[in-house]
Amino acid sequence: MRKKIVAGNWKMNNNLTETRTLLSELKTKLGTTPQAKVIVAPTFTNLQSAIEELSSSEIIVAAQNMHQAKNGAYTGEISANMLKSIGIETVILGHSERRAYFGETDELLAEKVNAALEHQMTIIFCFGEELKDRKNSNHFAVVAGQLTKGLFHIKDADWDNIVLAYEPVWAIGTGETASPEQAQEMHEFIRETIADTYGQAIADKVSILYGGSVKPGNAEEIFAKPDVDGGLIGGASLDAESFTTITNAI
Ligand code: PGA
Repeated sequence: MRKKIVAGNWKMNNNLTETRTLLSELKTKLGTTPQAKVIVAPTFTNLQSAIEELSSSEIIVAAQNMHQAKNGAYTGEISANMLKSIGIETVILGHSERRAYFGETDELLAEKVNAALEHQMTIIFCFGEELKDRKNSNHFAVVAGQLTKGLFHIKDADWDNIVLAYEPVWAIGTGETASPEQAQEMHEFIRETIADTYGQAIADKVSILYGGSVKPGNAEEIFAKPDVDGGLIGGASLDAESFTTITNAI
């Protein structure tokens, strides 16, 4: 059975007080036995408080990004070792906003993947096509390219530490969601692409999340698709009620 996962990517939202409030609301609303593995990714400055706030909870705290180097003269950056030292075991890599606004390439992401794996971290690896790719019917090739260049150098055993998040760029924060059929079609393609390179057993084991304007009103039909194993939620993860409803839709 593949793990069902709902992850909240808070992006650059919530100061310390707001982080504590939202986490405390989430703990209450999700209860002790959430329907899925639940992950939240607050901003760097609030990770340690989030770990403390959630110490008695099943909710996992993830970072939204990290640098590929071990340490050194990289002003403003955060390493895997620093994250691990405060108890962070999970990191989101390759989010489309990192790719678009901070110039993260597939090649750079491959290095970040290696650094995270060296530290035995779990990676939520994000990828997805832009609108122009879909309009040109190039979306499958773009997604296959992102996977091949950013991720397909890893060893078979490394897949135990990988969660995939397919996030079509045109659906992120736009209110426009991929239809459940579009999500399923791409997730099935992703699983086939993994099977072609790594074999069916690995492909069947990896959780593939859908991200892009998932909301309480559409989560259930998206999550019902056989190759969709959960979601990476942006906007709707900032509200405890919405995030809980989405989690329970699993
Ligand atoms: P959204 O963001 O749910 O606000 O569309 C998803 C994401 O960026 O992970």
